Amino acid sequence: MEQLLSPDFKFIDLFAGIGGFHQAMTRFGGKCVYAAEINPETARTYKNNYHLEALHDITKIDPNDIPQHEVLCAGFPCQSFSKAGQQKGFGDVRGVLFFDIVRILKNHIQRYGGPKFLVLENVRNLVSHDHGKTWIRIRKELEDIGYNVVRDPIIVSPHYFGIPQLRERAVIVAVRKEIYDKPIKLTIPRVPKNSCSMDSVLIQRDTKEYKLASFKLDDYEERLLAMWDDFIHGINRKIIGFPIWSDVFFSKRPINSKMPEWKQEFVRKNQELYRENKEFIDSWYKKYDQLSWVKKTHRKFEWQVDNKITSVFEGIIQFRPSGIRVKQPTEFPALVAMVHVPIIGKYHRYLTPREAANLQSFPPSFQIDENMRLAYKQFGNAVNVDVIANVFQQFIKLIEEQKNG
Ligand SMILES: C[S@@+](CC[C@H](N)C(=O)[O-])C[C@H]1O[C@@H](n2cnc3c(N)ncnc32)[C@H](O)[C@@H]1O
Repeated sequence: MEQLLSPDFKFIDLFAGIGGFHQAMTRFGGKCVYAAEINPETARTYKNNYHLEALHDITKIDPNDIPQHEVLCAGFPCQSFSKAGQQKGFGDVRGVLFFDIVRILKNHIQRYGGPKFLVLENVRNLVSHDHGKTWIRIRKELEDIGYNVVRDPIIVSPHYFGIPQLRERAVIVAVRKEIYDKPIKLTIPRVPKNSCSMDSVLIQRDTKEYKLASFKLDDYEERLLAMWDDFIHGINRKIIGFPIWSDVFFSKRPINSKMPEWKQEFVRKNQELYRENKEFIDSWYKKYDQLSWVKKTHRKFEWQVDNKITSVFEGIIQFRPSGIRVKQPTEFPALVAMVHVPIIGKYHRYLTPREAANLQSFPPSFQIDENMRLAYKQFGNAVNVDVIANVFQQFIKLIEEQKNG
């Protein structure tokens, strides 16, 4: 049976971040021979973990400095080619980072035929980005230099594999046409819906990290959540399909007709909710000192749990600019650069950096940046390791099976 990949195949990691691809490839025996990451702090975390200097700007790399490799990995930024073209003259796509991948590939194709496989990752809406032009151009560029590219990006998320994070991303896989030139039909098996559990990523109570007080809610946050918990228990509805804006309850002003229609609708619904629950809401308001101590954004509340839970402290909570959002505890929202670190209701504390690592399937041995803000940001930028490992494994298996009959 023909081996598609050497047992200790070499790979490169472009737009490396903290090495989500790196982790995934090493699971299959891969050895990283080059990584490029422009952010010095992120590159420092990369070096701490993999003993490899990743601090390079892709736009300045001489492709001859990159050793020969079998797999090229890249989680490149999504930029609009036509916009770049408009700014600099039609067809001029300088500055669009995807073309640095193509530039590197062309050099390597000339040198030894190029990497056999490409694994690229991007945001979910890559397909619709710039009316579909971005994706079509990406596919064409790769096809023109000899790659057989999956027809449409594969949409995957950690929660498809039982990891409690909703984070849909587009993964693009490609193989050199000399190796396989039939259409790539890759279906990724998913675990059944609702089979994720938040507990699978939470650290245990008796660990040192758990005891660190800094993740705990402060007195203001505790009182605030208790206040909204009371609210949810006291009103006559369990399902609320709109954000609660408590400032509206007591406003005497008529609805501003200059507001967008959706906003007017939310105001009407809040007024209706108030009318239906006037007695309870009035006493709640009094109990909590007319909310005079509550910051403006915290007077808004989004109960996005259907009827799956009945208490704020059973959910996953985020303080967002649009208000306090509560979701059911099956899946965490995507760790997007982690500006709004999720709160685990039942433990009255924030998600820790190690738990963010767990959500991204980084192993316990991973050395996390000591600066928490940076740690959250780096995990928020990373690709989920299990997601990439799963797609890569299925992809290699498919091609092996097709080739070997
Ligand atoms: C979406 S993140 C990819 C994260 C990575 N896949 C991981 O698992 O951590 C994109 C990364 O590209 C880096 N980047 C942006 N422009 C770059 C450039 N010109 N050269 C090298 N890296 C760059 C960013 O700093 C960022 O860390």
